[in-house]
Amino acid sequence: MTALPAIDHSAFKAFERDCYSHAANDYLDHAARRTATLNAHLLDALGAEPGLRWLDVACGPGLLSAAAAARGCKVTGLDYAEPMVELAREAFPAISFDVGDAEALPFESEQFDAVSCNFGILHFPHPEQAIAEAARVLVPGGKYAFTCWAPPPRNPFMALIFSAVQEHGTLDLPVPPGPPLFRFGDPDECARAVSEAGMEVVEIREVCIEWEFASADDILTTVARGTGRLGRLLDLQTPARRQLIEQAIVAGAEAHERDGHIVIPAPATLTVARRT
Ligand SMILES: C[S@@+](CC[C@H](N)C(=O)[O-])C[C@H]1O[C@@H](n2cnc3c(N)ncnc32)[C@H](O)[C@@H]1O
Repeated sequence: MTALPAIDHSAFKAFERDCYSHAANDYLDHAARRTATLNAHLLDALGAEPGLRWLDVACGPGLLSAAAAARGCKVTGLDYAEPMVELAREAFPAISFDVGDAEALPFESEQFDAVSCNFGILHFPHPEQAIAEAARVLVPGGKYAFTCWAPPPRNPFMALIFSAVQEHGTLDLPVPPGPPLFRFGDPDECARAVSEAGMEVVEIREVCIEWEFASADDILTTVARGTGRLGRLLDLQTPARRQLIEQAIVAGAEAHERDGHIVIPAPATLTVARRT
């Protein structure tokens, strides 16, 4: 593993909470239905069935929580950004949603049969702590599943965004340094992290989802307004640089046009582990 950057944990955590608190409505409108393309994989991986006690960590607006509840699971959702939790409660009033930190779960040990974390792990300044917390609240034999983006160049969507920023802008921006976005896209890193938390690997595999956009402008709106750190990558560029970046993204998106839409592969790594 390459050396991890030095991180001010509390500064980064506050930054993420701020990003997702401000982006909550746009996240629901632009990103949530796309991250939800992983839901069926997570439900199957964790064996969703009636009565299963399920904790959905970093639940955002709650689409995965709702999908697990629809399969009869007894679901609790948790997110650090209060506006996300408000959206989830509003949309799914029958499910219990809490505001809380993935790295310090507000639950007794051995309370859940399944813990999910869909695209949350890359946002935690101390992911090992979040994985240890997931293991703590699971019953022995309970399962944990999390997802993270596969890194560019294996990930054409992320490659499109990052190559445009690298070519025309800068990654040297005034934001608190955070953990590497694609660390848990690496299967070896996933296996190492769950093993260190005392869990055994059930499976680690790449899931080839595609993100569909009505237009290239829809990509720009999704990235700029419906994400956390990624959106700040655009927001904090100079206007001139931002224009060039946006032009490059629009031009690059043309290669992915299909039947009047833009369809871009955005593969993710799914890790499933069992508490022994
Ligand atoms: C990319 S969104 C994923 C949301 C949802 N799981 C989905 O698939 O759409 C990341 C979520 O992680 C939440 N988050 C970030 N840091 C967190 C932390 N330390 N504890 C709990 N949630 C956190 C954010 O508020 C945001 O809702």
